[in-house]
Amino acid sequence: MNSRPIGVYDSGVGGLTVVREISSKLPWERVVYFGDTARVPYGEKTARDLLGFSREIIEFLIGQDSKYIIAACNTTASQVLDDVKKEFDIPIIGVLRPGAYAASRATRTGRIGVIATVGTTRSAAYEKTIKEYVPDAKVFNVACPELVPLIERGDLNSAETIRVLHYYLDPLMEEDIDVLVLGCTHYPYLIEHIARITGPHVEIVDPATETVTATAAALQELGLQSQEKSGQHEFAVSGDPMRFATVGRKLLGDSLTGVRQVNLSDERAKMSAGNRGI
Ligand code: DGL
Repeated sequence: MNSRPIGVYDSGVGGLTVVREISSKLPWERVVYFGDTARVPYGEKTARDLLGFSREIIEFLIGQDSKYIIAACNTTASQVLDDVKKEFDIPIIGVLRPGAYAASRATRTGRIGVIATVGTTRSAAYEKTIKEYVPDAKVFNVACPELVPLIERGDLNSAETIRVLHYYLDPLMEEDIDVLVLGCTHYPYLIEHIARITGPHVEIVDPATETVTATAAALQELGLQSQEKSGQHEFAVSGDPMRFATVGRKLLGDSLTGVRQVNLSDERAKMSAGNRGI
């Protein structure tokens, strides 16, 4: 039994879709969340940048006593997760493999659409991973660079957002897909509009669901699960806390409180001073 928190991170509000799932499926678990809102979007950042950001954030989350880390960012998971895992002793899971697995279980026809950031789409990681489970799957990838900035602004229901969704999804619907993967953790904020466009015959996969199922299994296997709630979730961001809270509350409601701003370089300096016994 272990009441230490699960560390969850993303470029911004996207990873809160994973926090929501943790709150509903693992109510005894406490989360410490980091949203890198000063550097959002991650979508077109280089792998080198993504590796550097992940290192800094994971060090911070370990400093907050995390027992397990969820990289709640497909862009990171698609490009640098294997390297990141090698550098740290703490168990780390990404959202991409669980999402690909869920899609492979959901499809009947093998025709799967994946919407994601430019970086995730370029990496072809979803296609490769889905094909490990369904070798003859036909995967249709669409990069949607305009969505994350709209969501980070809290622009979830405007005519512009719906127009942009049609622009990305209408051609995908021509491909006769039966499953659509939301391959960016921000996209579940728009799930109702997306479902209206895809219609009842397309199953929408939110990788957060399978990620949290896999997390529960891993915590149990490692003897790290908590059995009673030891406090509230905590939220930290590199950018503006108010802006993050305003958008995040549209998903998590009033449980999103006490967002603080953290400067990762200062945290790093404090940690190394601590290690030197200063
Ligand atoms: N939410 C992240 C993802 O799943 C990052 C999106 C971004 O910052 O562009 O890919």
